[in-house]
Amino acid sequence: MSEAPKVFFILGGPGSGKGTNCARLVEDFGYTHFSAGDLLRAAAKEGTSEIAKKIGAMIRSGNIVPSEITVALLRQTLQEHPSGVGYIIDGFPRKADQAKMFEDGIARAAGIVYMQCSEATMEERLLSRGAGDAKRDDDNAETVRRRFRVNVEECEPVVEAYKKEGRCYVVDANRDRDIVYADVKEIFIQMGEKPIR
Ligand code: ADP
Ligand code: C5P
Ligand code: MG
Repeated sequence: MSEAPKVFFILGGPGSGKGTNCARLVEDFGYTHFSAGDLLRAAAKEGTSEIAKKIGAMIRSGNIVPSEITVALLRQTLQEHPSGVGYIIDGFPRKADQAKMFEDGIARAAGIVYMQCSEATMEERLLSRGAGDAKRDDDNAETVRRRFRVNVEECEPVVEAYKKEGRCYVVDANRDRDIVYADVKEIFIQMGEKPIR
């Protein structure tokens, strides 16, 4: 990458609707979307290396993969997928050191959106997500509890720090899909972004 890429972060607890809203942002604005969790799941499946095993174990237990691994994976992924319009990255940064590593080493985020959602709503969504074959290993009651704890202890402080810097838009993600997305889209328009349709 010759110059810093334009990157937006979409944050929120597990099941808050990050992936769902990013898919619609891709349609409306033409962004390239990456979910840090999806990239890590793919990396865990890719091989039998120690790193792949370690990533798989962290995801299954609901813990955060070491930041150097995730930041390196994102750096490589952005390099391999040039985007004229820009990127939305969801589920990243999940820890203060990830935010610093990315913003110091790759690009300062052009905008940050936080999907605020109650644990009761998130739990209900996660436990019914992907019924059948598509069900994720970590969408079970025990791992969800761990993911919520990690979210409160590690991820929410990142959001608080961005809020203090006045860089974070907050969306009430507890509501119906279309109402939530209307707010998300409006935020992007307020940030000066142009819909492609
Ligand atoms: P995240 O990427 O934040 O973990 P997802 O976008 O995968 O969350 O959403 C979790 C589950 O909740 C999915 O099954 C999705 O279809 C559903 N979902 C997303 N947004 C809403 C909403 N506003 N109301 C009801 N269900 C939703
Ligand atoms: O965002 P998603 O729910 O898909 O993330 C699934 C898992 O991937 C997390 O519970 C965590 O184990 C791992 N992850 C991570 N660091 C990130 C994003 C996801 O360790 N920045
Ligand atoms: Mg997701």
